[in-house]
Amino acid sequence: MSSRFDNKVVVVTGAAQGIGEAYARALAAEGASVVVADLNEGAGVGVVEAIEADGGTAMFVRTDVSSHESATALVEAVTAAYGGIDGLVNNAAIYGDMQFDLLISVDWDYYRKFMSVNMDGALVMTRAVYPSMQARGGGSIVNQSSTAAYLYSGFYGLAKVGVNGLTQQLAHEVGGMEIRVNAIAPGPTDTAATRTQAGDAAKDLVKGLALKRMGQPEDMVGACLFLLSDEASWVTGQIIAVDGGQTFRS
Ligand code: NAI
Repeated sequence: MSSRFDNKVVVVTGAAQGIGEAYARALAAEGASVVVADLNEGAGVGVVEAIEADGGTAMFVRTDVSSHESATALVEAVTAAYGGIDGLVNNAAIYGDMQFDLLISVDWDYYRKFMSVNMDGALVMTRAVYPSMQARGGGSIVNQSSTAAYLYSGFYGLAKVGVNGLTQQLAHEVGGMEIRVNAIAPGPTDTAATRTQAGDAAKDLVKGLALKRMGQPEDMVGACLFLLSDEASWVTGQIIAVDGGQTFRS
């Protein structure tokens, strides 16, 4: 039986755990060769082993999304192993262990580091990966935004506003190469990182959702795989909220 992602190679950053892991497992289950690109080698290798145990194809590449050298090395390793890249999910972020501070007082070096991962990381990865997509006749990029982009959430939200802007601007820069760029804006999602970061405050957040439960990583999978697939072949520059009805925009 054929699957949506047979013969496709998809890189998922931050796939060693949480939402990225759910994307990686779902893509492999639908036939993709999946690249788990993360700083966390131990957990990332564990995700690859789980995918292989389920009959899928995956490799781990230790990657720092804020580094051009690391992104270039990833593309070289993936090209050597699988021949090229068709899909990229820019999911990695500093999140679970992020510092709490204000824009007006956050340590400047920390702020620069944070933005280099959470905002610029998607651009660093895109710049490294798009030539491989172009060589294969096109591709699809999905950026992980957040409803934090529409709510007060300090520099975390500011980085996600940047991710949304990158999504819209890059869609125009690479559209002529048949490369699509979209984003998903998840609402509060039950991952270990959220449990560390939000604790009991997550329970209050749920009261404000139209659908009265936290999202699960698996709730994000349908939108991500749709945007990566040929079913979304005329969809680009869009930011899709998958948030239980947390936000609405007019
Ligand atoms: P997580 O903290 O569990 O996973 C993030 C992954 O990114 C980790 O495996 C970490 O090692 C990796 N990472 C961090 N810095 C990196 C770097 N420089 N290079 C490569 N990998 C790096 O987070 P979670 O909850 O799975 O969230 C994933 C994404 O979804 C993030 O972009 C987050 O901002 C976004 N998001 C999460 C929500 C939630 O409630 N969990 C809600 C909205 C958006």
